[in-house]
Amino acid sequence: MKKVRAAAFASGTGSNFQAIMEAEGLPIEVVLLVCDKPGAGVLEKAERFGVNASVFEPKSYESKSAYEQELIAELNGAGVEWIFLAGYMRIVGPDLLGAFEGRIINIHPSLLPAFPGKDAIGQAYQAGVDTTGVTVHFIDEGIDTGPIIAQEPVAVFPGDTEQQVKERIQQVEHRLYPQVIRQLLKETTYEDKTK
Ligand code: GRF
Repeated sequence: MKKVRAAAFASGTGSNFQAIMEAEGLPIEVVLLVCDKPGAGVLEKAERFGVNASVFEPKSYESKSAYEQELIAELNGAGVEWIFLAGYMRIVGPDLLGAFEGRIINIHPSLLPAFPGKDAIGQAYQAGVDTTGVTVHFIDEGIDTGPIIAQEPVAVFPGDTEQQVKERIQQVEHRLYPQVIRQLLKETTYEDKTK
């Protein structure tokens, strides 16, 4: 099976990156990790899995566009075809969106359109909902607004701590993200064959 060359973008601990790397039989080869936070936990994970990591400091560029143009050059240099955002805490701009149109997906810890943006788990917990969840979606220029690919609800039980809700959500994320990637790229490969 020909594998799709992919990049993961992450700024945090990288538990979703790890789940993707450990999933069996995914039709992707993760050839690059892009990280915008020097020292982020995900960098150690990349090293452990033997994935090249590029660490960027967006603030050191004169504009978002200049930053993204350098990213695009790096991604093209590595032959990257698809991008998986896994806790990348930055809005993707028009340069990167245009260069990888329809080939950037994100995972978000709520049932979008509910609780977009930062601290979605905390937002849901504070709101006292009895159900939240996980969404995998294509990205667009908005904050967690792109077309939804898959969603799975997660229950919030009376007496739960926020940490318990977070753990329940993460368990779903780590199963759902690889599952969606597998399905999506199977369909893409099928479409390509018909051309
Ligand atoms: C996840 O909850 C993901 O949904 C959100 O950021 C978090 C990243 O966590 N976009 P991790 O770094 O993968 O553990």
